[in-house]
Amino acid sequence: MSDALRLSGIEKGYNLGQPNEIRVLNGVDLAVPAGQVTALVAPSGAGKSTLLHIAGLLDTPDAGRVTMAGDDLTGQSDRARTRARRERVGFVYQFHHLLPEFTAAENIVLPQLANGVAPAAARARAEDLLGRVGLDHRLDHRPAEMSGGEQQRTAFCRALANGPSLLLADEPTGNLDPGTSDTVFDALMALVRETGMAALIATHNLDLAARMDRTVRLEQGKLV
Ligand SMILES: Nc1ncnc2c1ncn2[C@@H]1O[C@H](COP(=O)(O)OP(=O)(O)OP(=O)(O)O)[C@@H](O)[C@H]1O
Ligand SMILES: [Mg+2]
Repeated sequence: MSDALRLSGIEKGYNLGQPNEIRVLNGVDLAVPAGQVTALVAPSGAGKSTLLHIAGLLDTPDAGRVTMAGDDLTGQSDRARTRARRERVGFVYQFHHLLPEFTAAENIVLPQLANGVAPAAARARAEDLLGRVGLDHRLDHRPAEMSGGEQQRTAFCRALANGPSLLLADEPTGNLDPGTSDTVFDALMALVRETGMAALIATHNLDLAARMDRTVRLEQGKLV
């Protein structure tokens, strides 16, 4: 069976005047099979966000290939990559990036509408997802009316709205207190287990990493 995500030979540098002045990724190889949760651990500035953005088709590598379930998306058009992102990938940002003028439920409905789901079905799915992370009572609250942990659980539900086969999360509990971080993480793990998704989760928290299936470390632009 092909892996939900496969990265091969990924290189990325940022050019600030001189070519490749900052080399961030230096030949990253990684396979994430369906149903497996992988922790991505590295110090600040090592390139975790850069790697996740490339894996999530939000950015393009200088070299290397990004393959999802056997489909090589590397050289495809922006349109094809946007579509693949919408249909296959759920992304949780370090800060939730919820739309402030919309309620929790609406934030989960909107990506489904963009994917062609009918409004009633989208609303039902939003309520189901929010219910599963204990937010039945927050459906119609806006982000500013929710706690940090509630916002982050809502962001997880939004990432899962279109039933992605791959979940990418960039330090999803980084700005939460330890107790809240555990609650958010438990909700995430339960949803991942239930759906059989592949997940790649960047974290600074080694205790959380130890509860995932596997840990990879980014060192000198490579995974070890
Ligand atoms: N757009 C950019 N232009 C120039 N340099 C960048 C850009 N984005 C990131 N970098 C540099 O690339 C390196 C890796 O950044 P990245 O954000 O991937 O690290 P990170 O591991 O996610 O760090 P953190 O744990 O602090 O979030 C850093 O040295 C950063 O300064
Ligand atoms: Mg980062």
